[in-house]
Amino acid sequence: MDQSLSDIVEEARNALAEAADGAALANAKARFLGKEGSLTARMKLLGALSGEARAAAGRELNEAKQAIETLVSGREADIARTLLEARLAQESIDVTLPGRGLGRGGLHPLTLTIARIEALFHSIGFDVADGPEIEEDFYNFTALNTPENHPARSMHDTFYVEGGLLLRTHTSPVQVRYARMHEPPIRVIAPGKTYRVDSDATHSPMFHQFEGLWIDEDISFADLKSVYADFLRRFFETDELDVRFRPSYFPFTEPSAEIDIRFPDGPLAGRWLEVSGSGQVHPNVVRNFGLDPERYIGFAFGSGIERLAMLRYGVGDLRLFYENDLRFLQQFNR
Ligand code: PHE
Repeated sequence: MDQSLSDIVEEARNALAEAADGAALANAKARFLGKEGSLTARMKLLGALSGEARAAAGRELNEAKQAIETLVSGREADIARTLLEARLAQESIDVTLPGRGLGRGGLHPLTLTIARIEALFHSIGFDVADGPEIEEDFYNFTALNTPENHPARSMHDTFYVEGGLLLRTHTSPVQVRYARMHEPPIRVIAPGKTYRVDSDATHSPMFHQFEGLWIDEDISFADLKSVYADFLRRFFETDELDVRFRPSYFPFTEPSAEIDIRFPDGPLAGRWLEVSGSGQVHPNVVRNFGLDPERYIGFAFGSGIERLAMLRYGVGDLRLFYENDLRFLQQFNR
């Protein structure tokens, strides 16, 4: 054997030290420990020896092999560390740079307003209900005492869709759907989207209303007045609010009233502002609820949610709610 084992190990040490990456290392390792490797070649010669000599040579070969393997894993770790260091140096992060617009989302002012209305009515025992926006003529009009050719239908410019359906023009159809499915006493509000062919600074083809319905045996208009006035004072967080019920007309209520409010101060001071329709549910409608109008009395209201939000937040143009201008929306982001 010309080359001593320690020479082979030494040669391996040098070869491995020169390997700069994983592939070069694998090649270098193969030169000694691979199938054709110089140490492997020595192992093959063991068979020719016998007894003591073979055991001794075997032990030495194993030691040499282990030494090379240790060198390989040491070099492997070195290479990994070097690569990592190079990467870290290249990808260094400047933690002092300003962040890139970590924008936090927030709830839309109308969503906030609906949540507030729901919470206030919930606190006095009202349920919250929902109904379809694509509605049947029956629920939107007929059941609400507004049969075909009734002049009051022209109060609403209606979007009709295929199949005899329409986009609900108010949330009042939810009254009918809810009352038909629940036993009195009924106390419910139903916020949601409504649609009318209408568009300017104070009207949008899509807008939100919330319907209120209260049915019991022994209630009066005075109850409706106090519940609604109380809601308004809590909604606007002021006891200084004037509330008036002004006679009006809706086919599904009799008597009917618009609800107006007036602020004593602020930019709108002194002006009466309409916020809701209301009234005592017409006996025909109570009958359509499946209830006896001799026994049950109902009160209802339908209020504009944008209107309430505009007044509460001091928003002058309804269209701001739908333009998704972040400069507007972010003001509600608290
Ligand atoms: N639905 C009516 C409207 O949209 C409002 C209303 C609701 C009036 C309930 C009376 C009772 O104009």
